[in-house]
Amino acid sequence: MYSATGMLMLLTAALAILAPSALGLDRAEFPPGFLFGAATSAYQIEGAYLEDGKGLNNWDVFTHTRPGDITDGRNGDVTDDHYHRYMEDVEIMRDLGVNSYRFSISWARILPRGHSGGVNSAGIAFYDRLIAALLQKGIEPFVTLHHFDQPQELETQYGSWLGTGIREEFDYYADVCFRAFGDRVKFWTTFNEPNVFAKDSYMLGTYPPNHCSSPFGTCNSGNSYREPYVAAHNIIMSHAAVVDNYKRNYQAKQGGSIGIVIEMKFYESLTNNTEDILAAQRAMSFEIHWFLDPLFFGEYPKEMREMLSSNLPKFSLAEKRLLQNKVDFIGINHYTAIYAKDCMLSPCDLNTYEGNALVLAIGERDGVRIGKPTALDGFYDVPEGMEKIIKYVDKRYENVPIYVTENGYSQHSSNGLEDLVNDVGRVNYMHGYLSSVASAVRRGANVRGYFVWSLMDNFEWAHGFTVRFGLYHVDFNTQVRTQKMSAKWYHDFLMGSRPVDALQTLRADY
Ligand code: NOJ
Repeated sequence: MYSATGMLMLLTAALAILAPSALGLDRAEFPPGFLFGAATSAYQIEGAYLEDGKGLNNWDVFTHTRPGDITDGRNGDVTDDHYHRYMEDVEIMRDLGVNSYRFSISWARILPRGHSGGVNSAGIAFYDRLIAALLQKGIEPFVTLHHFDQPQELETQYGSWLGTGIREEFDYYADVCFRAFGDRVKFWTTFNEPNVFAKDSYMLGTYPPNHCSSPFGTCNSGNSYREPYVAAHNIIMSHAAVVDNYKRNYQAKQGGSIGIVIEMKFYESLTNNTEDILAAQRAMSFEIHWFLDPLFFGEYPKEMREMLSSNLPKFSLAEKRLLQNKVDFIGINHYTAIYAKDCMLSPCDLNTYEGNALVLAIGERDGVRIGKPTALDGFYDVPEGMEKIIKYVDKRYENVPIYVTENGYSQHSSNGLEDLVNDVGRVNYMHGYLSSVASAVRRGANVRGYFVWSLMDNFEWAHGFTVRFGLYHVDFNTQVRTQKMSAKWYHDFLMGSRPVDALQTLRADY
């Protein structure tokens, strides 16, 4: 007979034989200086929505005026109360063992009403304190300038991203940030997932300012076939102007780098038929090339030009000149792979995210899911997708330095506390995806960092608080943060111990 410990040892040994790769993940495989971090964004964690001179932003107004558009009717007024608890949160990061932290600056906290309203010194002071606390603990700040939120004033003045006036506003805001924080911040990104918010805001209408047209949704105004591309054009040119400013006026003396973060699913063709193979390529084009081709090659992709014709703006000569400034790196937010089905030859519902590409994204092939489902519809655990997407970007965009700026796993908030904290599903997910990053690195991709989404549970946009992505559980009534199993796992990995607990792997095989 074996004792319990003996059984566990046997089990571990058996798993080591059965799944050697699962036990092989090791921090030492990653290049020296690799950034390992966790990510958040201002609106999702800060709260203090009206404090110390902050102006209202688009999400404050949207969640207050249209609570019915948020699954649980809630908002980010308080959320994680990070504005007041940032010291505790930095302490948590230190315990976790990360060497970097990706967060965003709230534009309306720095410029409550945009350029015309002046700089809010209390807003600058908050980020100064946060950056100082991070650096003091040896944690590198990795800063996003725009993560879905902008001063409401700019919505009113320009229709936000639909008006060209916002370009100068963004340039001014970025300049204020470079001047205020650039001596200490060495990693900047202009936009987080512009490809997502351009569509959610102006095609599906699920994000402010709730613009869309039929069949994508029912909104008071909008044109789902045109506005996402007009907004994207202004975003791309706002990005280009900010990169130009940073490179001309700050980079040499501050010594930092600047990039952009794009959401990237990996689209697998549903069948081997030519039309589905082409559909998968179109989906990649409408999701990724849409933003990155202009930044690398000065033009929108051919497929988009052909399909969208005059709805897709053109770059003027002056704009093309500005686009010659190259990003220093690309941020990849990757969560899932998904099947792409053609909708040109066989008609399907097109009121979806991939609708304009005439593609339907589906999670099943012949009744078999592409991976284990997670709490968010359309998000599956498909670890090999990570290596595929890294290779794809590496190849198309000239071995550009890559940071995986987000990767994470969601749980239903309705699960009990014990289940939420014993997040074996997340442990398995992270193990698989990190192994996939390691494999891409081994094969020569220029990957320089990995950030888990998210440090702690927070406000998940239109899903409110119904799903949780955190390494730390947050009780939104008491603000108590509790370490989840995944945080412990990540910590062990970062400390260089082999973190895979055989039992966790086994238990997660539900
Ligand atoms: C992408 C976004 O950047 C982030 O804000 C969001 O919470 C996560 N993905 C999860 O959906």
